[in-house]
Order: sequence, then structure tokens, then C-alpha cells
Amino acid sequence: MYTLKLCSLFPLSQAPRLPRAGETIHGHKFFIGFGGKGANQCIQAARLGVKTAMVYFVGQTSDAATGAASITVNDAGENAIVIVAGANMLLGREELQKALPAISHAKVLVCQLEISPQMSLQALRMARNSRVKTIFNPAPAIPDLDPDFYKVSDVFCCNESEAKLLTGSSVTNVEEAHRAGQELLKRGCGSVIITLGPQGSVVLKAQESTSKHIPVTAATAVDTTGAGDSFIGALAFYMANYSTVPLEEMARRANQVAAVSVQAVGTQTSFPFRHNLPAELF
Ligand code: RIB
Ligand code: NA
Repeated sequence: MYTLKLCSLFPLSQAPRLPRAGETIHGHKFFIGFGGKGANQCIQAARLGVKTAMVYFVGQTSDAATGAASITVNDAGENAIVIVAGANMLLGREELQKALPAISHAKVLVCQLEISPQMSLQALRMARNSRVKTIFNPAPAIPDLDPDFYKVSDVFCCNESEAKLLTGSSVTNVEEAHRAGQELLKRGCGSVIITLGPQGSVVLKAQESTSKHIPVTAATAVDTTGAGDSFIGALAFYMANYSTVPLEEMARRANQVAAVSVQAVGTQTSFPFRHNLPAELF
């Protein structure tokens, strides 16, 4: 499995609520961890027991520093993130070409939008040309997403807010997610998964006309940061190692992995290893 990623350090503050513009508030916990959606997804997949690799750029020039993100988490476990992609936006065609051997020999390629969108798209095309399965996570979401992203995604996986930005319709419940999923599916992807936090996820496949809701067992959320990454990392693991399992079942299991991650603070620090999880997930 090979993943394109942002490599970053991120300061995380826990506070009773998220600050408003111009406001300073007291928080009660602060630490610096590792992050970047690609890195998080890669770590989660590796912890479940699959060989992983990453393509990324760190700041070595005067032009850009290594990517970083600042995160605030409120008492409800919700977060607000500002990411500064830095050097990752300098990853270009030349670097990508050097990664071709690794991409073409992978079982699954996962891409996000923390590098330049055109480079993510190019990587997905490279994977497709080598018959490597692709997962595209349009995060952080951009309104003017190149329509080709849909055509090169075996699985197009996003959360509620990303689905809302891409479809222009509100996605707050299962019903709305079914509708948004249908709209995204029409744009040409093999399948669509919309993650809905405590409401689980919806799974739609191009070959079937049904949209399935996959609920998740309730978990008390301490910090939901990176839960989507935990889900995608787990999904990539299942697609690589359990390729005959139906996508709905992969989503059900990935939901359970992500539900473990929300019960502890941080992203990678909270992602479970295979030995922390019930045997029925493997
Ligand atoms: O998805 C959560 C991640 O997004 C954080 O780890 C942060 O690094 C940002 O990139
Ligand atoms: Na967490």
C-alpha cells in the first residue's frame, strides 16, 4: 500500500469550546504530535498489519517549511484545524515520477488534498494505469475539485462537511448522505463512502442501485481529530489484505476501528493496533 501524504507536526489544544475570531480563551491541555492526513492514514493501516509507504515533502528550502497544522478540540471532542501545507505543495511531477515503482507495485493507493490537487490526481492516474486500487479522500475539501478525481477513484471517501462542499447540499443525517452519495457516484467513481461520525457511514456502489447505511456502536468521544483518517487507513488495510470482503463490511469494520480512536486524545496517539481490537475484525 502506498499513500500520498502531508508530513507535519501539529500543536493540539483542548479547550471548553472553540475560540471565536478575535477571541483568546483558556484551554486545559496542550501537546505537539505528528499528523497530516496521509501520515495518519498510513500509520493506521500499518498498525492493522499491512506494509505501507508514503510519498511526501518536508521543508528543506528557503521556499517552504515542513507542513504544520494547529488544532483546537472542544469538550464535545469536536475540532477546528488550520493547516499550512508548506513544502507539500512543492511536491511536483519529478518527485512523483520517482515514486512510480512504489505506486505501481502497491495494492492500494490513498490520496488526499494536502499536496497540490494536480499531483494527487496524477498519482491516482498512475495507480489506475498499473491496476492499483485507489482511495481518494478529498480533504481538506476544495469547491473547484477537478471532475477527473471522480473517474480515477475506486472509492471516493469523504465526511459530511466535504460532501456538503462538493454537492452544495446539506449533509447532516443518513437521508441527506444517501442523496449526496448518489450525486457523487454519478460523477464517475466506483463507489462512494460518506462518513457520518457517530451515525456511522453510507456506502454506495456504481454496480448496485442501493445506498446502504452502516451504523456504528456508540462510543464516548474524547477527541474526534483524525477519526476520518483512522477510518480511511483501516479501509485501505481491508482493501489490501481482505479484497474479497464486501465494501459495506469493510466500512463496518473501519467504523469500529475509528470508534476506538475517538476515545483517546490526539490522532496517531489514539489509533489502535491490531492487538487492541476484537478478533472478529480480522
Ligand atoms: O485529519 C486530521 C489531520 O488533519 C490532523 O492530523 C492534521 O495534521 C491535519 O492535517
Ligand atoms: Na482521537
